[in-house]
Amino acid sequence: MKILAIETSCDETAVAILECSGNEQGAEFRVLGNALISQIDLHREYGGVYPALAKREHSKNLVPLLASALEEAELLREDVQTLSPELHESLTLLLSREIGLSEAFFAFITECEKPDIGAVAVTAGPGLEPALWVGISFAKALALVWNLPLVAVDHMEGHILSSLLKSEDDVTLTLPKPKLPLLALLISGGHTELVYMKDWLSYTLVGRTRDDAVGEAFDKGARMLDLPYPGGPEVSRLAERDREDARTNPFTLPRPMIHDPHCDFSFSGLKTAVLYLTKGKDRGDEEKEQLARAFEDAVGDVLYSKSLRALDETQAKTFAIGGGVSANMHIRRVFTERLAKDLPDVRLSIPSASLTGDNAIMIGVAGYFRALRSDYADMGNLVANGNQALASDS
Ligand code: KG4
Ligand code: ZN
Repeated sequence: MKILAIETSCDETAVAILECSGNEQGAEFRVLGNALISQIDLHREYGGVYPALAKREHSKNLVPLLASALEEAELLREDVQTLSPELHESLTLLLSREIGLSEAFFAFITECEKPDIGAVAVTAGPGLEPALWVGISFAKALALVWNLPLVAVDHMEGHILSSLLKSEDDVTLTLPKPKLPLLALLISGGHTELVYMKDWLSYTLVGRTRDDAVGEAFDKGARMLDLPYPGGPEVSRLAERDREDARTNPFTLPRPMIHDPHCDFSFSGLKTAVLYLTKGKDRGDEEKEQLARAFEDAVGDVLYSKSLRALDETQAKTFAIGGGVSANMHIRRVFTERLAKDLPDVRLSIPSASLTGDNAIMIGVAGYFRALRSDYADMGNLVANGNQALASDS
């Protein structure tokens, strides 16, 4: 089955086409087409993602990305299509709020043949609602015009599943069924959660941040060090430089809640500590590198220690890490090295570097598993849900 997947939850517009086969016991995904535009350069001057701009850019990018993904998949065939007045009206209504998208959509759709696609999967949440809506309206319009089933995907489920993908060449991805139960640590710009998967695709919340998400803490900490947005990769770059020099670090930062007997996180105290060490002080390059390293060390220790507690509580056999912050080299090393020592029987799954950030491949993968269960979305009822929660408390 070929799945067309769309992701617009934040500042990446992405469209992918996957040839999916297999089932929950083991699945294979061939990436036929994958097109992505990152808006990071545009949001940088605002110091964060500016929702109205994200929405406008998604509206502008979706049709060209769809064309390019279809072309790469060799599924793009020119043909004149006439739309019935009723269909035209429904589509116009669907796209009426997405300025810039409607015109491009009609121009494209009336000039190409229905491609050999089996379903359209789209991120329904969590994320920025205006941004999510663009993808959802676009997915609905495609499902309507090509008469395809629609699958609503949870972005965080996409992050979990992408960490389980194995690949030799980035084109053919396999997802062998992990040993359950599984515990996932989700670390992104909006989330820091420990989620328990006892049965395949069913989730319970084990721990979460009580204030800032870890990616948000990286981004805010970076701003205090005068680093550009998004701060995570910048902090990481500086910290790695300090690690290479292997100097002793004069800075230590707090590890909030590390000894508290629960699996929740808190990062706002860490942020305040960085503020005290930077405000009104003219820190030089070397000190900034040391601060970045102290920050990463504190975050790594807290994430690891809480994960270990959650693994002990849940007795999970697989531990998966997902979300944008899983790109962080220090965090990857902390989990790889310490887990092998502390819990050698637990299988660790970390996404390949190319799949750590937001992308449409993970949405297609999650969409396929939902489609296998005939978990299709209803056109009329599908709405964007910015605060959608994958798991609730047990
Ligand atoms: O999953 P993601 O791409 O988007 C959301 O769904 O939020 O995560 C984005 C977050 C940003 O806060 C970014 O600074 C952080 O991931 N990030 C990193 C690194 N790369 C991205 N944080 C630390 N180290 C990195 N190398
Ligand atoms: Zn994400």
